[in-house]
Amino acid sequence: MMQRRGFVLRMAGLAAAGLTSCRLWAEFPGGSGPTPITVYKSSTCGCCTKWVDHIRENGFAPEIHDEEEMDGLKDELNVPRAVRSCHTALIGGYLIEGHVPAADIRRLLAERPKTAGLAVPGMPPLTPGMAPPGEKPRDYEVISFLPDGSTKLFARH
Ligand code: CU
Ligand code: CU
Repeated sequence: MMQRRGFVLRMAGLAAAGLTSCRLWAEFPGGSGPTPITVYKSSTCGCCTKWVDHIRENGFAPEIHDEEEMDGLKDELNVPRAVRSCHTALIGGYLIEGHVPAADIRRLLAERPKTAGLAVPGMPPLTPGMAPPGEKPRDYEVISFLPDGSTKLFARH
């Protein structure tokens, strides 16, 4: 009897572990299914839509909210003025501001640095979603930022 009970408990433990790892896998590269990300943008923003296409093509599942008043939303989310761009996204407790490449969002989720999020301030012309078709994104920087407006270089492309 005792043996059987131990077996059942062990199987239950494995099942629980399996469930946990499934949840983790879904959030990281190589996991099963696209990674959910929440995107706030203005309905008239063409480059926002192209950036959404870029992250969708790279394994994210964007949930899109069209907002009338992006600046008010950025105020609420504590996006410092100096790093602002067009759209604002939320993923894994981080803010993603502007045309940040999908690969850098993956790196952020893998490394989980102590930061509020990543930004490509303004709208540099050769970023994902901004670069003309066929043109490889280049010549821009991705920074990490804190609510007080301090920034650090995260990646140079
Ligand atoms: Cu834009
Ligand atoms: Cu945008």
